[in-house]
Amino acid sequence: MSIKPTFTEPKSRAARVMAGIVESWRKIRRKTRESGPLYTTQLVIQHLIPKNLFNVQMFFLCELDLRKFARVRGNDPEIRSATEKDVDLLANLGPSLSFWCASFERGARVWVLEREGQVIAGMRLIASDYSEDWLFPILFKGPPKDIWGTYLKVVPECRGQGIGTRMNRHVASECARLGYSRIMSCVDTLNRNALRADQKVGYRRIIHFIVIRFLGFTLVHSKGSLRLGRWSSRRRLELQVDLFDKKPC
Ligand SMILES: CC(C)(COP(=O)(O)OP(=O)(O)OC[C@H]1O[C@@H](n2cnc3c(N)ncnc32)[C@H](O)[C@@H]1OP(=O)(O)O)[C@@H](O)C(=O)NCCC(=O)NCCS
Repeated sequence: MSIKPTFTEPKSRAARVMAGIVESWRKIRRKTRESGPLYTTQLVIQHLIPKNLFNVQMFFLCELDLRKFARVRGNDPEIRSATEKDVDLLANLGPSLSFWCASFERGARVWVLEREGQVIAGMRLIASDYSEDWLFPILFKGPPKDIWGTYLKVVPECRGQGIGTRMNRHVASECARLGYSRIMSCVDTLNRNALRADQKVGYRRIIHFIVIRFLGFTLVHSKGSLRLGRWSSRRRLELQVDLFDKKPC
């Protein structure tokens, strides 16, 4: 798997720094318009401060019951399964080439919505794995066949047109057909667009949890369960939370 080198005009250092600042400012304005100032501030802080130095995040663990999708046929003709050959296209969508390569290495299933050779939307699911390198230092106790790590992204220019909801519906019916009973999705409590997109397809919030990272230590709290420790991708913090407790949070 390799990225083709692209030729770019050499620019002075000052010009590159200036272009970077202008681009970041544009991104911040768009994000504030789309997702609100609170979520944007959180993303800016995360961008500026290394996550293991200081980071506070709250999440909803949401569950989608796939029983109601079992008889849904009508798959979306614009959406197709992606393979490792599509990583360069997916890298353009973001967040990064390494994210998509690592996802495929971990056995992810990926779907894309492609128009004129460009990936407009991508969705990833990983069975029985719930931890991300920095984001989820947690291994929830639950039936492994049901726990999926989800990631959905739509290019900024095409958001708010129902594409996220179409991806969610298509993937849910595919998973139901493959015999899975539920999809778990972890969404930042400030990411209102993602919460809305999930809610539209029928996700139910089942657990609220908080992750605080400070000077290499991580504290995870949810439903009376607390873990504090040094977390690494080899040594995860296991949270004893009953994923079948049906009380909504
Ligand atoms: C979350 C996300 C995938 C939703 O995709 P989408 O194609 O905009 O989804 P939908 O069009 O189905 O709309 C979902 C909700 O987004 C909100 N929305 C509306 N216009 C929007 C716009 N221009 N931009 C962003 N979100 C908008 C609305 O609340 C909408 O619900 P509504 O139709 O009931 O008003 C997309 O915003 C995204 O890629 N975000 C960045 C990546 C991310 O945070 N992923 C989730 C974490 S895994």
